[in-house]
Amino acid sequence: MKEKLEVMIKKSAFLYRIVKAFYCFYMILISPFQYKVKMVLKQPYFGRYLNAGQTCDTRRQVMTDLINRELLGGMPYKILEIGSWAGQSAILWATACKKNDKGMVFVIDTWQASENAPKGMKRGVKNNRIFNLFLHNIESSGVNDYIIPIKGSSDTIAEILKPNSFDFIYIDGDHRYTQCKKDLLNYMKVLKINGIISGDDLELHPNEIDIINAKNRCEEDYILDPKTQINFHPGVAIAINEVFGDVSMKNGFWAMRKVKDGWESVVL
Ligand SMILES: C[S@@+](CC[C@H](N)C(=O)[O-])C[C@H]1O[C@@H](n2cnc3c(N)ncnc32)[C@H](O)[C@@H]1O
Repeated sequence: MKEKLEVMIKKSAFLYRIVKAFYCFYMILISPFQYKVKMVLKQPYFGRYLNAGQTCDTRRQVMTDLINRELLGGMPYKILEIGSWAGQSAILWATACKKNDKGMVFVIDTWQASENAPKGMKRGVKNNRIFNLFLHNIESSGVNDYIIPIKGSSDTIAEILKPNSFDFIYIDGDHRYTQCKKDLLNYMKVLKINGIISGDDLELHPNEIDIINAKNRCEEDYILDPKTQINFHPGVAIAINEVFGDVSMKNGFWAMRKVKDGWESVVL
């Protein structure tokens, strides 16, 4: 039995080394190459290099369906995004504006990444690489005219925005509790009545998780929940729960509609 176990451990360690070697090969050689090719061909790039691709297809579908539905009604439409990175979500909103021939997307980002951001993102900050990729992506996606980038921290820009001035707000900036809660409180004020506030990275409902563990680790970016064995963003979960209580959520995307006397859930 002991021998069998030792053989199994050796085999899985070997397999792990092979997978790791492939991953390193891909990250060091293939993905920068794919990035360069896209730059030369003037096509948008949302691959792994510089962590350019940030949202999965299922989540993007929920976001696309919601924004297309919202753009059907009302007059001019102003969208505000906090946290754009390589522009993947900004382009999703802008593509809907272009398709519906209505709306404008204002995006706020430092293009500096948070302190606890993954290594790939830290690499993107050097020599303005990520901001240049953002500009390349919006241009090559044909939505340049629908996006207005505002370079600065969410705290600073919040001070100069008028209350009740946006129809749709999407928060995907710093995911740590303190900053995430500040962003929620600051930006809910600039949302119009009947508008939608939304955001990324709410993988689990606070009532599903080990709440004490999440509160203790809420300044970390992404951790494993011991109760569900699922990775999640504790800061986002705790901040949203404190500000709104329960929210509408699907595939990690969340949203709430502002009404005269509070907040209403949204069909996702
Ligand atoms: C997760 S990425 C955004 C991904 C993007 N929404 C997408 O789907 O492609 C987070 C972004 O927030 C920005 N960010 C972090 N803290 C910020 C802050 N306090 N103010 C403005 N931007 C911030 C980072 O520079 C980074 O670009």
